[in-house]
Amino acid sequence: MILIKDNKFVLNTLNTTYAFDILETGHLEHLYYGARIDFSEDLFEFEVIKIKREFPPGNTISYDEEHFSYAFEDTSFEISSTGKGDVRSPFVSIIHADGSRTSDFVYKSHALKKGSPKRKTLPGSYDENNNSETLVITLKDRSYNVEADLYYVVYEDKDVITRFVDLRNTGEDEIKVERLLSLQLDMNDSDYEAVFFKGAWAREMQSYRTRIADGMHVSKSTVGTSSSRANPFFMIARENTDENMGECFAFNLIYSGNHMEITDANSFGKVRILSGINDEGFLFTLKKDEVFEAPEAVMCYSDKGFNLLSRRMHEFVRKNIVRGEWRDKERPVLLNSWEAAYFKFDEGKLVKLAKKAADTGVELFVMDDGWFGERNDDTTSLGDWTVNEKKIPHGLNGLCKKINKLGLKFGLWVEPEMVNVKSRLYEAHPDWCLANPETPHSEGRHQRILDLTKKEVREYLIESLSAVFSSADIEYVKWDMNRVFSDVFSIGLAAGDSGEISHRYVLGLYEIMGELTKRFPKILFEGCASGGNRFDLGILCYFPQIWASDNTDPICRSEIQEGLSYGYPLNTIGAHVSASPNHQTLRKTPMKTRAAVAGFGCFGYELNLCDSSKEEIDEIKKEIALYKIYRETLQFGTFYRGGKGPAKSLAPESASVLSNASGAGNIKEWTCVSKDKSNAVGMSLKKLALPNSQNTIYRPQGLKNDAKYLFINKELEYDIRDFGDLVNMIAPIHLKQNSFLLDMIAKKVKLPSEKEKYTASGKLLCTAGVRTCQDYAGTGYNENVRYAQDFSAKVFIMEEIPDIEKNE
Ligand code: DGJ
Repeated sequence: MILIKDNKFVLNTLNTTYAFDILETGHLEHLYYGARIDFSEDLFEFEVIKIKREFPPGNTISYDEEHFSYAFEDTSFEISSTGKGDVRSPFVSIIHADGSRTSDFVYKSHALKKGSPKRKTLPGSYDENNNSETLVITLKDRSYNVEADLYYVVYEDKDVITRFVDLRNTGEDEIKVERLLSLQLDMNDSDYEAVFFKGAWAREMQSYRTRIADGMHVSKSTVGTSSSRANPFFMIARENTDENMGECFAFNLIYSGNHMEITDANSFGKVRILSGINDEGFLFTLKKDEVFEAPEAVMCYSDKGFNLLSRRMHEFVRKNIVRGEWRDKERPVLLNSWEAAYFKFDEGKLVKLAKKAADTGVELFVMDDGWFGERNDDTTSLGDWTVNEKKIPHGLNGLCKKINKLGLKFGLWVEPEMVNVKSRLYEAHPDWCLANPETPHSEGRHQRILDLTKKEVREYLIESLSAVFSSADIEYVKWDMNRVFSDVFSIGLAAGDSGEISHRYVLGLYEIMGELTKRFPKILFEGCASGGNRFDLGILCYFPQIWASDNTDPICRSEIQEGLSYGYPLNTIGAHVSASPNHQTLRKTPMKTRAAVAGFGCFGYELNLCDSSKEEIDEIKKEIALYKIYRETLQFGTFYRGGKGPAKSLAPESASVLSNASGAGNIKEWTCVSKDKSNAVGMSLKKLALPNSQNTIYRPQGLKNDAKYLFINKELEYDIRDFGDLVNMIAPIHLKQNSFLLDMIAKKVKLPSEKEKYTASGKLLCTAGVRTCQDYAGTGYNENVRYAQDFSAKVFIMEEIPDIEKNE
């Protein structure tokens, strides 16, 4: 795993190698990260990969006279700083007591440790089997009393290496940390593209792929959370990399606050990759002996395209980030009350809804926002975590018992980090929120953020939420957070410490989440922040799943969930079927499509089943029954995307719009294969119908080459009204559109879908692909034609046929 010889370091995983050494100057020089190289024990091959230096490039700074040829502007480092000639964006920047901003970290010592170390203030990756190995390199500033411990944790079987740094003030004087990042990777050539995942509320995780050889690219959040604006997960890839071919790297940060990811190409064809806490508004004071822990960063490499990269990240997130009782448990099918009722409900309405849910096969009923204080809209009561007895007269316990009696688990929504000015909490403690009492405050959704840097606030939240969570048999909690930071100010904090607030808030949040998940280990927590405004590995260290977006439109969702799938496994992604027309886009889509897309996640419903027709309820019952059969495959199996990978884009929004219009991004093709590869579920989603494009080829991936599979499609029934007045081509009597008669007949007469049924080896299915029935192309329709209108999704099931001869 980790090889060390004469100042040379090699970190091996099963399929990757990371190498660096110590320069004559004492600095750590990055040499290689990529496909596994089997170095010999004495690492003599380092001569090949070491950069050769005789003279410094023109107009650059030489480190010193003794090392005249060392120009830091063109040296690849493990950690870079300011002031010694490296003009790229630095890893660390410190203001020393004398005002100097020059830092110069050189090697002091190193140590090897078994397992993965625990952080004091921050969540991190973990390794329950103690299989990982950690290298710690201690660096020391040549002139100032500052040390840095650089950690590398090698998860050999996961092909993942994580990194973090602890910065220590070993001197008497205070220092000010202006920037301390988590990841630095100096690549020896810049011929890569970066893939960032950007967006906004209801438009999370839109991929943005751009060349990075030309200067600096920054993806960042300054809104206090990891944010929907820019997820901390990102990748770099060679230009021709697609889902199954080519070199690519993935990076993520175990952090839930402001962050930044930078690619900085220099004048010599190298590129620096950086990621860590965003330094805008950040300034942290370290007194004598104090340590600043920077969040842990995650790195992964694939030489076979994005699918392999994602699979590696998925396994790592599943086993080394997500923890607790729910880590490996199948997640229940839920019904959430939000889009079903919003704030307008009472116990009677909820119980009716739950009854319908229970009839369809739902397993968990979630009461969303609106159950506490005087909360009938979003202007009031956040902070007052006592039940609204007008709505819920028998309290949480009474309601919970009624829900349990229906055979359902009970869960509820909270938004602990917030307070409305119209609340008892605010009246009692106006100084408990992040706001400056001397200046007007800018509200977000009529609410303010509680000051989690304060111990008394954290204690209040832990105790008041503990009281709620233990007041009934609550088995699920949706933890929401619905505004971003503004007016960042903490009453009582010294003026000079204001640059610490955002980070201290995140630390406070982790403390609360840590304590509550410890006190309530059986509760399934789902993170949420106005949808996907805080979908990150920090949250996943406490909560095993996160609500991906408030946008439940399946067409938008296919982009959002696919975006997430690059870095996060499907069992971390909350996905629900909602009403049509959709509440966010007003788009009408078939129930089948909504269920197909939501099925590739932690599946649930979020619509008023009491208003659903019998036909819809029957359809929902079938969907849920099918989901339960393949739930393990969908939540814990191996996920594959079809297609070419993130499209090159000009602007994040344009990516999906452009790909919708051009044929290439029009189809989403997903496959999930069970761990033992004995079954798989596939989906082919067509966004827009293209006339005269008859044939779709669905290519599953990941099946066993030599096993035989039965391949079938999920059979559907179509509403004859979808065919417009073409129905008159076959109807014995003339049927007028929108007529009562047509509606009557449509209720009784359904058109059965085409049937796909083939037996073939996994190799054939995956290599040649399945040429599915001819798509409807405007020239004719019968039972063998694939009805493929706008927003239609087809679901395929693959089951291995046991080889009876072999078994005998
Ligand atoms: C935002 C969440 O994302 C929604 O799902 C819902 O819980 C609302 N908040 C409730 O206010």
